[in-house]
Amino acid sequence: MKVLVIGCKGQLGWELLQTKPAYVEFMGVDIDQLDITESHSLEQCVDEMVPDVIINAAAYTSVDKAECDEEQAYGVNAGGAEKLARVAANRDIRLIHISTDFVFNGEKGSPYKISDDPAPLNVYGASKLAGEKAVRLILPSAVIIRTAWVYSCHGKNFVKTMLRLLKDKNALSVVSDQIGTPTWARGLAEVVWEFVGADNSEGLYHWTDSGVCSWYDFAVAIQDIAFDIGLLDTMVPISETKAENYKAEAVRPRYSILERTETEQFLGRSAQHWRRQLRNMLTNLQKESGLEAESVG
Ligand SMILES: NC(=O)c1ccc[n+]([C@@H]2O[C@H](COP(=O)([O-])OP(=O)(O)OC[C@H]3O[C@@H](n4cnc5c(N)ncnc54)[C@H](OP(=O)(O)O)[C@@H]3O)[C@@H](O)[C@H]2O)c1
Repeated sequence: MKVLVIGCKGQLGWELLQTKPAYVEFMGVDIDQLDITESHSLEQCVDEMVPDVIINAAAYTSVDKAECDEEQAYGVNAGGAEKLARVAANRDIRLIHISTDFVFNGEKGSPYKISDDPAPLNVYGASKLAGEKAVRLILPSAVIIRTAWVYSCHGKNFVKTMLRLLKDKNALSVVSDQIGTPTWARGLAEVVWEFVGADNSEGLYHWTDSGVCSWYDFAVAIQDIAFDIGLLDTMVPISETKAENYKAEAVRPRYSILERTETEQFLGRSAQHWRRQLRNMLTNLQKESGLEAESVG
């Protein structure tokens, strides 16, 4: 089976390559080879590669930057998704598209079901919702997987930022009044491959690791585990702060937990707890840094 992964150099794209099943012929492109906002290049690329399935792991993911870069965020997350859906629909190619918990406003106070009405609070969330709507309209058979708080050994994310700050600073203050579920991109990638294999799947799905936490809880867990496995030499105090003190450009949902029950039943598998997945990721990161040190030495 030929699978074209668009955004193959991003966190999810990279983990899709690490977890690729043996039966898949993996074809990956990223913005340096293909810009999904350009219809002609998109058509040309798909016609050259002739994939059976396209996975759209490409997105404009800078949540704060999107607030003053609306045109580009919509261009990629809505326009790019729409163009991709059209190309796939015209060629009868299956499409798997990724979306976000930020389509919700976080005011519900309990996990969001797939059937709950989205109401994004920021430009990123609104642009991703516009992308979802376009994909569903043009290609109703497409699979759209909403996920949250994604991190990986590869790329920029909260875990790697915390590790850097925990090495550089004497103390940290982290937001404790926004609740979500951290999700290791490796586990998400494995689930995406299950959807590739499940040709009876279509429509919206929710997938994250299990459990809930605040950014503060997440930061404390990162420090504890990183220290435990020797990625950090020292511990520094981490205190709680409110989102209003942090003054980020984009407003974020206070409680954006995605209800996974329907997806778990469909796939016949349960998500792993975020803390276990965090330990798995940090252990991998440590192995990788050891390998880098060896090859430099
Ligand atoms: N990261 C999260 O916390 C999170 C949470 C919920 C949902 N999601 C969703 O999960 C999916 C994967 O996210 P991720 O964290 O893997 O993202 P990522 O690491 O930012 O990777 C996205 C990739 O897409 C590329 N890209 C950007 N614009 C493009 C364009 N016009 N054409 C082709 N490629 C383009 C990026 O290149 P550049 O880096 O050069 O821009 C990057 O390599 C996205 O749909 C995202 O919205 C992510």
